Amino acid sequence: MAIRWSVFVCMILLSWLLLIFITSATAATTSPYVRRPARGPVSLGRLFGPTAVEDVQQVHASLAGPNHMRVSWISVNTGIPSIVEYGTASGSYDSVATGDSTSYTFVFYTSGQIHNVVIGPLKDNTVYYYRCGGVSLEFRLRTPPPLGPHVPVKFTVVGDLGQTGWTTSTLDHIQQSEYDVLLFAGDLSYADYYEPLWDSFGRMVEPLASRRPWMVTEGNHEIEEIPFFIAPFRSYNARWLMPYAESGSTSNLFYSFEVGSAHVLMLGSYTSYVLGSPQYEWLQDDLAKVDRSKTPWLIAVLHAPWYSSNWAHRGDGAAMMAAMEPLLKEARVDIVIAGHVHAYERTTRVFLGMIDPCGIHHITIGDGGNREGLARSFRSPQPAWSVFREASFGHGNLNILNATHAFWCWHRNEDEEPVLADHIYFTTLSAPSNECSCASETLGKTSSTIEIGDAATLSEM
Ligand SMILES: *[C@@H]1O[C@H](CO)[C@@H](O)[C@H](O)[C@H]1NC(C)=O
Repeated sequence: MAIRWSVFVCMILLSWLLLIFITSATAATTSPYVRRPARGPVSLGRLFGPTAVEDVQQVHASLAGPNHMRVSWISVNTGIPSIVEYGTASGSYDSVATGDSTSYTFVFYTSGQIHNVVIGPLKDNTVYYYRCGGVSLEFRLRTPPPLGPHVPVKFTVVGDLGQTGWTTSTLDHIQQSEYDVLLFAGDLSYADYYEPLWDSFGRMVEPLASRRPWMVTEGNHEIEEIPFFIAPFRSYNARWLMPYAESGSTSNLFYSFEVGSAHVLMLGSYTSYVLGSPQYEWLQDDLAKVDRSKTPWLIAVLHAPWYSSNWAHRGDGAAMMAAMEPLLKEARVDIVIAGHVHAYERTTRVFLGMIDPCGIHHITIGDGGNREGLARSFRSPQPAWSVFREASFGHGNLNILNATHAFWCWHRNEDEEPVLADHIYFTTLSAPSNECSCASETLGKTSSTIEIGDAATLSEM
């Protein structure tokens, strides 16, 4: 009996190896991994706490121009001043900055007092200790590395987070990765008109978002519009103020920032993007200011993907893609990161639907853990531009190593089982060795995706 059993196990293993062999022998991979279902919502807690310490909550930080950060938080008590005391030693705050506060109403809901305070100038790569409103517990955050063409910088990338058991799993994994800046491709709280969920989301992410800058762009779940009554993005804009003014934008829905060797465009999928729109004009101006000798990496983040071979949300990004893809290609954007589709997918360099050595790598990472569950159904056959795709919850790390190379790794949340995840070295189109003389170079030379094994087993999660 024992022998028959081991023969059976061997056959299973052999067919598994054969499957791995077949999937890794071709450039395109549809991972065979089968995911478990969505997890339920986590405890949402009280809306507001009663004590002075708890009166400061939902603390989060964001970049606010060179050497400055914005600290945002919410208090119930309108008497709490918009001040942040900070310094490089715990308990001793030698600087204080003053900001302002606002609140909003949403049908029968009135938000707490939302405070925004810009602190700085700050030293690069330094841990600061800070206290909000003169009453909060001490928080600490680390500033990002300095600007410079060779400076390494580590991004963590998420989308469609929501607030379920899978969300907390994603946050646990993010916490273990040493990152400088978090990029959020939209769909944050899934409050969907029930405003207290914005507050519970703020409290849920505070342990991470108060320690590192979280840079977000909006998804469809942020719209929350009631025609003629409540304008789109009322809650999102009030709670997640991003450095749009600092980057010459007229709207919190699109902006850019620079960190290390990267210029990052945070674009809006749900505000006009057509030729002549404020977003398009701003993007043109912003791209004209990019100096690749200072920031060799050019990355864009948006919500509705332009390249996705999933059946979910098919075509949702098509109009924006038609309007903006040539502009981004012309600017030699390296990577476009999107959310929206609740699965993971990575493309080779692609433009106008065709593999193109001067095109853009697209990553869809709408698999943060929201309550809607996963989008498991991919189109068949896998399009030539699609390199790796899988419906699992997870997050990504984009580690820019130097002026030419970046290491991208997608982490699946599952750590109780053997893990098959995706990783790759990206090279930037700004690199001298990658001058993108499209006519003469072969695909293999310029696109590193072909050379790297995609179905690598990662021992460390
Ligand atoms: C950049 O990093 C890559 C990958 O680690 C390495 O192969 C390359 O030599 C580095 N380039 C420079 C100029 O250090």
